[in-house]
Amino acid sequence: MTLKDELSAIAGEAFAAEGLDAGLGAVKAADRPDLAQFQCNGALAAAKAAKKNPREIAGAVADRLSARPEFSEVTVAGPGFINLKLTPDFLAARIDALGADGRFGGWEKETPEKIVIDYGGPNVAKPLHVGHLRAGIIGESLKRIMRFAGDDVTGDVHLGDWGLQMGQLISELELRQPDLVYFDPQAEGPFPEEPPISLSDLEEMYPAASAACKDDPARADLARKATKALQAGRPGYVALWRHFVTLSVNAMKKDYADLEVEFDLWKGEADADPLIPELTEDLKKRGVLEESDGAEIIRVAREDDNKEMPPIIFLNSEGAVGYHATDIATIVDRKRALDPDRILYVVDARQRLHFEQVFRAVAKAGYFDEARLEHLWFGTMNGKDGKPFKTRAGGTLKLRDLIETVTDKARERLEENGFAEGYGEAETREVARQVGVAALKFADLSNPRTSDYIFDLDRFMAFEGKTGPYLLYASVRVRSVIAKAKTAGAGEAGPAMLAAPEEVDLALVLLGFADALRDAYAKRLPHLLCDHAFTLAQTFSKFYAACRIVDEGDAKLRASRLALASAVGGQLDLILSLLGFSAPERM
Ligand code: ARG
Repeated sequence: MTLKDELSAIAGEAFAAEGLDAGLGAVKAADRPDLAQFQCNGALAAAKAAKKNPREIAGAVADRLSARPEFSEVTVAGPGFINLKLTPDFLAARIDALGADGRFGGWEKETPEKIVIDYGGPNVAKPLHVGHLRAGIIGESLKRIMRFAGDDVTGDVHLGDWGLQMGQLISELELRQPDLVYFDPQAEGPFPEEPPISLSDLEEMYPAASAACKDDPARADLARKATKALQAGRPGYVALWRHFVTLSVNAMKKDYADLEVEFDLWKGEADADPLIPELTEDLKKRGVLEESDGAEIIRVAREDDNKEMPPIIFLNSEGAVGYHATDIATIVDRKRALDPDRILYVVDARQRLHFEQVFRAVAKAGYFDEARLEHLWFGTMNGKDGKPFKTRAGGTLKLRDLIETVTDKARERLEENGFAEGYGEAETREVARQVGVAALKFADLSNPRTSDYIFDLDRFMAFEGKTGPYLLYASVRVRSVIAKAKTAGAGEAGPAMLAAPEEVDLALVLLGFADALRDAYAKRLPHLLCDHAFTLAQTFSKFYAACRIVDEGDAKLRASRLALASAVGGQLDLILSLLGFSAPERM
């Protein structure tokens, strides 16, 4: 139970004792923290329903609450708000429990679910665009949050490995090196294990091929034919396609690892392809698939639609499998392999229509409950010109380059702060990567998921303010206080005793973690956790400025403050890990 739940239950009992609905007891953080810690506005709603004076109801409920041991102060304010303050003893007991629960007060779900999160979504051989970056960052955080809350979560990268771009690449290589064994229509394999080209060849070939296809219909036709032959299983093409995927995936794995994004499954659109013939039959049987101009389509418009809802093209008139069909087949594949309760898609806002169509189609076919498919869309990371972020040269973002950029920038900052002295090159680089990645990820996650934001590396990288580096710095500082206490022989952490207002404030923030985590979980909004982490770091700072820890003379007070500090350190590091990054040993 979170602290707010517990207080709401207590207030609810008081309302019930007055013959009113216990639900009126809902307690929230005080609007005026200078006057109270929590408040309950239930008397206003109760008065409306009962046509009574709200202050009278509030007074009666407040009298009951005053009689309870949890509160040091219960007052009625304004038209009938009940303001609450908890006793230091009550808070101290909760802090002791938080220190002992092994979760630093983190909320836990009552009934865990099995969840698949589809995020990342990079395309083989194509450079990443900023949408893929945000998908990776937000998806990773949601995965970690849900896993911590108790869900059984599988993260799947869902590679874009099955589209026309694969045919464009194959035909490009065929034009350049027609003598390769892969292009012999008779060849059955086995084919060489080593790829015939390198990753940089692949990266050069992709834009060349796609430009050529754009300019020349005959060239585009070659690509289409190659795609069709690949999808039909021509052995040489399939072998080549495998090489392309492997080259690309090996590079992506390294980039994602540096970004601290980890997938459980490296499946892709191609993995759904074998299901297509069977699904085509089944969808026809269910009367969901219709023929239209030689294509197989699914109508997904509904009567109450007040928006444009075009039908899905499941197979086009050439029989090629498109993006909708692979997503539908992937849902069926996931159901068979994992039988999840829910599938979440962390994919940018531009694909809202796509997912709405897909979800409707699988619901229509009876394959999956629409309410358990969620498109967790997000806004765009823009450049300072307000348009989707591009590199300085105007190109699409490469994840590798972005990681280099943030690492270099972090290193500059660290060196300005005198970090590099005394540390080896390898450690300096690794700390710089950690700080750079934290800056980038926190900047992304601290914006509400659905908002756009502007990429501003200087702001992201600041060591002061609501930034990743500030939080890392706070974490390092808390740990250094605890380490200092050890070397100074300041004793162990002990039961909490809250005297100074800064201690009470810190305890309240620590105890607010469960609510923040639950909200972030329920709304799928990691920024709520970012807000909590920032408040925690700031409140710790004030506490640290006001209260002696290591050199506090009173042993009991010292032990209590050490307990508070280690709760802060543990909770902060836990949140950083839920956001998808970690603090270095020192910085
Ligand atoms: N590869 C796609 C793209 O680049 C994103 C994939 C998102 N996931 C999905 N199941 N459709 O746009």
